[in-house]
Amino acid sequence: MVRDGREPLSFVVASQDELHAPYGGVVPELACRRHVHILDAVVQEALVRAGLGLTDLTAVAVTAGPGLFGALTVGVSYAKALSYGVGCPLLAVNHLEGHIAAIVLEKEHPTGPYIALIASGGHTDLYAVQEPGRYHLLGRTLDDAAGEALDKAAKALGLGYPGGPAIEDQARQGDPTAIAFPRPLSGAKTHDFSFSGLKTALVYHLAKLSHEALHAALPGIAASYQQAVVDVLVVKTMAAAAASGMQEVVVTGGVAANGTLRAQMQRAGEARGYRVFFPRPAYCTDNGAMIAAAGAWQLQRGGAAPLDLTPDADLPLGG
Ligand code: KG4
Ligand code: ZN
Repeated sequence: MVRDGREPLSFVVASQDELHAPYGGVVPELACRRHVHILDAVVQEALVRAGLGLTDLTAVAVTAGPGLFGALTVGVSYAKALSYGVGCPLLAVNHLEGHIAAIVLEKEHPTGPYIALIASGGHTDLYAVQEPGRYHLLGRTLDDAAGEALDKAAKALGLGYPGGPAIEDQARQGDPTAIAFPRPLSGAKTHDFSFSGLKTALVYHLAKLSHEALHAALPGIAASYQQAVVDVLVVKTMAAAAASGMQEVVVTGGVAANGTLRAQMQRAGEARGYRVFFPRPAYCTDNGAMIAAAGAWQLQRGGAAPLDLTPDADLPLGG
């Protein structure tokens, strides 16, 4: 529950990490079923914690895409019924706009146009944001997303799911210069990313190691791999800021919960005179508050959705 699009009144996240952990990634059918079972209880819990009743709601915001079609359909169907029952507007939110809007839940947020890096399990996108609702896509990953690269590496290393936090944990004890993993496209003119070669480099490296050798080398491998991902994200975000002339940068999405990325992006931004903003880690990973914040932007734009809204698994953001 969010008041005025800025102030979280309650914050409830039903994580499915444990459900998908045995498979090393999200299983769409399981995700969909769990949404059906849990959604109403999550909404009721959020209302109770906010001290509100259904009739206090002034709008219902829901993710309309991009994402897994089944999971999106569960949310959209529920939100339609809720908004119709309560008699308040339905707001169809782009998941990526939600990640960007997460920053207004913080006291510190940009005052002018900014570069937004969205690094998650499904996306690695750089946007120039003129103002809420005006997004220009500068570059995106050509293959794997940054979070996907971390998830796949964690799986190869036997570290479990989700991979980002597991790698970050291992990396704390490791030397980030232990192995020279590639930094794909980091010197290139394009704002696009590529992470699949990094995972391939890891697989080749692992093939040379015995089980015992891997165990001993694990922290160094994790730290070096994480450093390669972080380096690419920092270099390309700084390059986008320089090319656009924008002075403010927002870094968001699940991977932005990473402490090393936050510290190094902050340092790189400061060195160039940019202001760098991050949502707190809980607002970086998928959550409802960011969707409510983006919904409020949409309400201001007068963009309530019709009741025949259908999800779009490939919903694009901006031009
Ligand atoms: O935004 P998100 O919660 O869901 C998507 O929209 O995909 O991002 C999930 C991704 C996963 O790949 C996960 O491994 C990564 O974010 N992630 C992290 C951290 N926490 C989550 N990556 C690096 N460090 C973390 N602390
Ligand atoms: Zn997300």
